[in-house]
Amino acid sequence: QVFRLEDYRPSDYRITHTDLLFRLDPHATLVTAKLTVERRDGVAANAPLVLDGDGLVLESLGLNGAPLAGEGYTATPDRLEIRAVPAEKFFELEIVTKVSPVTNKALMGLYQSKGNYCTQCEAEGFRRITYYLDRPDNLSTFQVRIEARKAEAPVLLSNGNPVEHGDLADGWHYAVWHDPFPKPSYLFALVGGDLGSIHDTFTTASGRKVALGIYVEHGKEPLATYAMDALKRSMRWDEERFSREYDLDVFNIVAVSDFNMGAMENKGLNIFNDKYVLADPETATDVDYAGIEAVIAHEYFHNWTGNRITCRDWFQLCLKEGLTVYRDHEFSADQRSRPVKRIAEVRNLRSLQFPEDQGPLAHPVRPRRYKEINNFYTSTVYEKGSEVVRMIHTILGPEKFRAGMDLYFERHDGQAVTIEDFLACFAEVSGRDLTQFALWYHQAGTPRVTVTTSHDPATGDFEVNISQTVPPTPSEAVKKPMHIPLAFGLLGPNGDEMEMGSVEGAEVNDGVIHLTAASQTIRFRGVGSRPVLSLNRGFSAPIVLNQDLTKEDRLFLARHDSDLFNRWEALNSLFVEALIAAAAREKEGKPHDFDAALVEAAIEIAGNDGLEPAYRALALSLPSEADVAREIGNDVDPDAVRAARDALRREIGGKGRDAFRRIYDQHADSGPFSPDAASAGKRSLRNVLLDYLAAAEAAPELAALQFETANNMTDRAAALTVLAHQFPEHEATRKALAAFDARYRDNGLVMDKWFVVQATIPGAATLERVKSLTAHPAFSLMNPNRVRSLVGAFSSGNQTGFHRADGAGYQFLADIILSLDRHNPQVAARLATAFRSWRSMEEVRQLEARKALERINAEASLSRDVKDIVERTLA
Ligand code: ARG
Ligand code: ZN
Repeated sequence: QVFRLEDYRPSDYRITHTDLLFRLDPHATLVTAKLTVERRDGVAANAPLVLDGDGLVLESLGLNGAPLAGEGYTATPDRLEIRAVPAEKFFELEIVTKVSPVTNKALMGLYQSKGNYCTQCEAEGFRRITYYLDRPDNLSTFQVRIEARKAEAPVLLSNGNPVEHGDLADGWHYAVWHDPFPKPSYLFALVGGDLGSIHDTFTTASGRKVALGIYVEHGKEPLATYAMDALKRSMRWDEERFSREYDLDVFNIVAVSDFNMGAMENKGLNIFNDKYVLADPETATDVDYAGIEAVIAHEYFHNWTGNRITCRDWFQLCLKEGLTVYRDHEFSADQRSRPVKRIAEVRNLRSLQFPEDQGPLAHPVRPRRYKEINNFYTSTVYEKGSEVVRMIHTILGPEKFRAGMDLYFERHDGQAVTIEDFLACFAEVSGRDLTQFALWYHQAGTPRVTVTTSHDPATGDFEVNISQTVPPTPSEAVKKPMHIPLAFGLLGPNGDEMEMGSVEGAEVNDGVIHLTAASQTIRFRGVGSRPVLSLNRGFSAPIVLNQDLTKEDRLFLARHDSDLFNRWEALNSLFVEALIAAAAREKEGKPHDFDAALVEAAIEIAGNDGLEPAYRALALSLPSEADVAREIGNDVDPDAVRAARDALRREIGGKGRDAFRRIYDQHADSGPFSPDAASAGKRSLRNVLLDYLAAAEAAPELAALQFETANNMTDRAAALTVLAHQFPEHEATRKALAAFDARYRDNGLVMDKWFVVQATIPGAATLERVKSLTAHPAFSLMNPNRVRSLVGAFSSGNQTGFHRADGAGYQFLADIILSLDRHNPQVAARLATAFRSWRSMEEVRQLEARKALERINAEASLSRDVKDIVERTLA
């Protein structure tokens, strides 16, 4: 079945109040739902009420207090149709279902994780609990009573505010929760278990005192303090930046270790993958700390962008996700370093969203079709969705943007709305027509922008020719020109920003060129000497830019651009170019010859104390093998790319060796560990340099020493990575891997790092290692984090391993997908996206990838999730 945007219509009935009773039991939880149903005006009195289900067992059914006779309804596991509806506008339906949390391994609906009951309902998991109008435009108040054996589940939580709790006979107890804010079913949550917790309070700007709680496995309470701190900072930031206050008396977070995604924004009761809650210096890296801060903020921000204002239908997913990602990006930029954060965002966008947008799984930020909505929680909806909101900010400027957000919150609070509603707020406050801009939501594909310039010293005219094309994608064959905001500056010969006179040929204001036609010529007058054009500053538009800059221009920008993003970008693009050329030479068996000026620039930046260490670390991080492969685009030979990258690292490491060693020593940690951004930046600079130094020395000693003496996980894991990736067969590496295993074997989250390090060792031999690691006691196909760390890291993070020319990597992934699909289709489908760039590989590998995809596709009992991904990938 295909769902289409244009088929949306409101339901005949609404559920306005939902009263739920749970009697928790591992195998037989009874769920009693009393639904207040309202027939919408204009709907015929005999229209049947059709509710969604998914694998449900119906125990009993009542209508307005009386049992319903069999001929009045039809119940299947996936649907409940009630024909005997009363004539009144309002009636009450009572549904009793029975579910088995302990055998629910799909981790959707009500399930158990380490013996604790929890739920995941987005997108369509509520229908695995009871029959319901399981669609985001049905907004209902909820009252939830949970009954459980006190010994099994002393903690009982749900959405909203606590109403009462008490003891029952036979060692049972109960708790009642009430959520006064009408919400769709995907935001429902329940937790029951034996959990430890930490507590704090937050007083909102208008004086509401909120009780905060974070619930974790017993003994892990101290590891939740950073998350609590991040939560309080998020609450304050949303007040200061967007005037958004929290609205309930309590806000609870629960960490569980079996979770399909990062976290979930259920009203007043966020449920998290424990990876995004638990941290201490011994077990978490700086990247983990930053991830916790970002995800805590993201879920909290959903309270306004997602919960108070929600989506009309799932086609509008980016309405809440793109906007909330934008908000969490801004939060992190304010808490940490803005340029460093922006570079990290763009690297992430290019490595995840660009390949999606440029391959068979491409879809618009707001899709018009889906077969399985879970497959649309993508980097396009989230990250490109965020970039689109960022462009609105760029086009309107900060004041109008803020006015548009204010209007959105004011006008749509308590509603389920669309992207059109969202855009209308910005059009209204700015007086701008955003019709063309809206194409960013409707057209898939990464726009390609080509730029040439010429300067006439006699007239002082500087001419910029810009053209755009959007490549065809499965969603649209022919594209229209987009409104592309290009932030820019002109750099004079001394590196200063140049003054410019009048401009014609495009709307140009506040340092932004508005490209709106397929091609435009922009003329700047009164430009005395040839400037260097710094374009798409801050990555103002998510495009591929081809600009006629010379190597000298790029080196100039890398040294002088006042826009720190473009400074990084200039150097990065030189690295990419050098690596593409080197990979081509590699294929022809020619020696490398890297530009000495580029190598010099890299070494210079390492020691540039005018730049913060985190920024220098990013500048020195070579483009990944996948980055280079993507830029090559077709007929990719990953072995050649790897050899080229290793050679450049050796070259820079060799030439920079003494300077790098000095900087490495200078930035050694002194004093106790702190996860703050500045300290983390020093560690990241040191660890990038460690990678170069090990390559230059062709010896593991320095990394081995760092591994043994590190007082925190960031430095320990970085050293282990250098050892394993550069010296996979060395005795020092064997020892370090064994020591890590012995020390952390019982901590799944830490073992994830150990799995990732090994799964991403370059080379064909890694496949055998990964296969044997599937038998390691810490690995389990039942736990999504373990699967992602070992199998996911291998298939999407190991170019030379996964894309082995003999196809054995592809076949391995096919085997895992097929066995995982039997219990967890959502995670299986996610793994299958690793095939998305198969057509860009050279011919032999393409053939092998096709074989593996076709073998998966031939499986008769394939889930809808995997089927959808595989079919689109093969199409
Ligand atoms: N809304 C959650 C978040 O972004 C993610 C839910 C993912 N759901 C899914 N079915 N994949 O914070
Ligand atoms: Zn989200």
